Amino acid sequence: MGDTFLIDKDVTETEVVHNDKGVEIEWSDGHQSVYSWDWLLPHENRFQRTVNLQRFMERAQRARKFRVVDPIMDPSPTVSYDQVMSENASLLDWLDKIHTFGFCFVEGVPVTPEATKTLIERIAFIRHTHYGGFWDFTADLTYKDTAYTNEFLGPHTDNTYFTDPARLQLFHLLSHTDGEGGENLLVDGFAAADVLLNENPKHHAALMAHKHPWHASGNEDVCIQPVLQAPVIQSHPTYRRVYQIRWNNYDRAPKIDWHIAEQKLWYAAASQFNKIINQPLMQIWTPLKPGTALIFDNWRMLHGRSEFTGKRRMCGGYINNDDYLSRHRLLKFGREKVLNNLGNFWIKKDNPNSIY
Ligand SMILES: [Fe+2]
Repeated sequence: MGDTFLIDKDVTETEVVHNDKGVEIEWSDGHQSVYSWDWLLPHENRFQRTVNLQRFMERAQRARKFRVVDPIMDPSPTVSYDQVMSENASLLDWLDKIHTFGFCFVEGVPVTPEATKTLIERIAFIRHTHYGGFWDFTADLTYKDTAYTNEFLGPHTDNTYFTDPARLQLFHLLSHTDGEGGENLLVDGFAAADVLLNENPKHHAALMAHKHPWHASGNEDVCIQPVLQAPVIQSHPTYRRVYQIRWNNYDRAPKIDWHIAEQKLWYAAASQFNKIINQPLMQIWTPLKPGTALIFDNWRMLHGRSEFTGKRRMCGGYINNDDYLSRHRLLKFGREKVLNNLGNFWIKKDNPNSIY
């Protein structure tokens, strides 16, 4: 590959030919370029388009395209382990369901940590954190984190304290002996944010505007804080759509850069959001059972669980956003289309970047 910085800054085109394949250009320094229509069309310069600012602001408070699962009326999205592991079409169906509904069950998973790990790695490599990579534990408080207890856990997202929270999380209950309880809870964070927007747009705006210093510092040798403060409801600055929810009241560090009036508004908004996510109609409770794994989008779905007795052995792991999106886009659209749309943030259905 040549050094593009050596190209004369005054280089001009000497000949331009349009044909069926695209545009061929002869440049004044003698080199030639060929741009295919498949590449050129997604890269039309849109800087000149007039922008309706009001419409853009209204858009920015709505979430990206998604569908809500009704906990009473709808069956839970489910796929089969054997199919996901053996066919790319089924793997794509699994990823589509996760992206659309925010979660999906996988049935027929062999009840072993090895099979569960292989299932996660069918999407991408497992993300390592200060809790390790693939995890396999019983409730024993190994890590000073509420996840490692048998207490009730209210709806929350994981990794609020990372600059880049894990995108997917998969759980598999391997065994539960001498006790009961421990049902899994999911709440659709996008749906909850939409409810808040309809009930009180000012509160929604407050959760979008005020950024927080999250942290993870339960263990002696760890104190993680993201480089940037982050809001509860994150809207994408280019797409102008909500694409990420961060919610864990226990991970919120003291915030010093706001006025009293902003604090009051934010706490009222947070309290209302908390009420919404704890409404029974917003909550999807499902028993976990050996052989059925659950995966969910941690940038959207809040999760929790009821308290339990007895001894549970759970395993699972996280997957990064970028690696999951790469896998999903390539499987759905093919490499050529993905490459032709690099940098094309003009979101249309046939643009691979519509998956974000
Ligand atoms: Fe969690």
